[in-house]
Amino acid sequence: MTRYAGNAAAIRALVREQEVHRDVYVSEEVFQLEMEHMFPNSWVYVGHDSQVPNAGDYFGTTIGTQPVLLVRHTDGMVKVLHNRCPHKGTRITSETCGNTGKFFRCPYHAWSFKTDGSLLAIPLKKGYENTGFEQSHAATGMAPVRHVKNYRGFVFAKINDSGLGFEEFFGESLSSFDNMIDRSPVGQLKVAGGVLRYMHNCNWKMLVENQTDTCHPMVAHESSAGTVIEVWKKAPPGTKKPMAVEIIAPFMSPYEFFENMGIRIWDNGHGHTGVHHSIHSDYSAIPGYFEKMTAAYGEERAKAILGENRHNTVYFPNIMIKGPIQLLRHFKPIAANKTLVESWTFQLVDAPDMLLERTLMYNRLINAPTSIVGHDDLEMYERAQEGLHSNGNQWVNLQRLYSPDEAGQTNVAVNGTSEWPMRHQFRAWTKFMTMGM
Ligand code: FES
Ligand SMILES: [Fe+2]
Repeated sequence: MTRYAGNAAAIRALVREQEVHRDVYVSEEVFQLEMEHMFPNSWVYVGHDSQVPNAGDYFGTTIGTQPVLLVRHTDGMVKVLHNRCPHKGTRITSETCGNTGKFFRCPYHAWSFKTDGSLLAIPLKKGYENTGFEQSHAATGMAPVRHVKNYRGFVFAKINDSGLGFEEFFGESLSSFDNMIDRSPVGQLKVAGGVLRYMHNCNWKMLVENQTDTCHPMVAHESSAGTVIEVWKKAPPGTKKPMAVEIIAPFMSPYEFFENMGIRIWDNGHGHTGVHHSIHSDYSAIPGYFEKMTAAYGEERAKAILGENRHNTVYFPNIMIKGPIQLLRHFKPIAANKTLVESWTFQLVDAPDMLLERTLMYNRLINAPTSIVGHDDLEMYERAQEGLHSNGNQWVNLQRLYSPDEAGQTNVAVNGTSEWPMRHQFRAWTKFMTMGM
């Protein structure tokens, strides 16, 4: 039985001002509609162009659940192609990366395609003569994703013609990307270190919401971060604070710290925590870095770039970046109750190596399948996914610091423990779900 397909009113009824219905997390039908409408109507992160430095390099990923390829074409431009053979639909490459040379070759019947997707050759071509093949969809080759934007190395794509233009979709939120990239003395990032992939048995939106949930760290992470603090207290006086302690201890900051930290809300579900300070503010200086930044930008600008300590910036629908630590998390939907999380680390080109060391250490300690902090969150998501099946209450509460006039507002900074970012994410969710429905 379908309840929601083609029924924009039913979708809208799932999201109230201060609460959302559990079906947004547990219904497989709603999940399928997210894949058909919400993801294709949004600008979705595909990958970073440093992952495909040479002509023929490709990287496989997904937009929602649709397989796509990021590829460097022979003309040097980055393309995004649907990872599907126009013959029988076979996925052209497995979802990894590599170099395909001058063309892709389908593993099923060996049709081949140039790196912009256009059809290059078909074995036994004669069999298509006088069949009108030139007019077929298949003759056009692998379909390119229509709307692609490379923003300072970060590649986004939008599948549908409907939806918003790139600038309109992101607006001022791109300042978080700018700050992360400007932290390199030459204004350039590259992917470095391995990606950490980690399956979560929960809905993808739980992960997205958690990025701006500041009322949980001191509770959910007490067993991990609290233990680190206890151990550190026993260190002999005068011991140099290890990098790991610097990274983990701020998770136990009191409510007041997070309230004063501030949250900024932008349009279309984007927003960031850490307007005034964040858990990244008090890291020790890395020798030689500030000098390099000053030489590149001048002292005033270098101070402004490094003084910006945004915590988590959420780009709706499904990535989060951490500027001060050069990290991007990608929440890939698999099913209503299954999400693959990828955590990518970036190197600031021409910056001291110790910065990358810190980034990699952060990723391993917090986000790895073998981390100590990420598991606390995972346990909570999975319990929520199970608990939502209880008929005790069908609604999820998002009411904290609600104000009735907030719906149309954007680019506002509020109390850091507000659930306004989550309410804004759901306003965006409804908008992109029902667009054209
Ligand atoms: S399915 Fe790709 S060549 Fe036949
Ligand atoms: Fe957490």
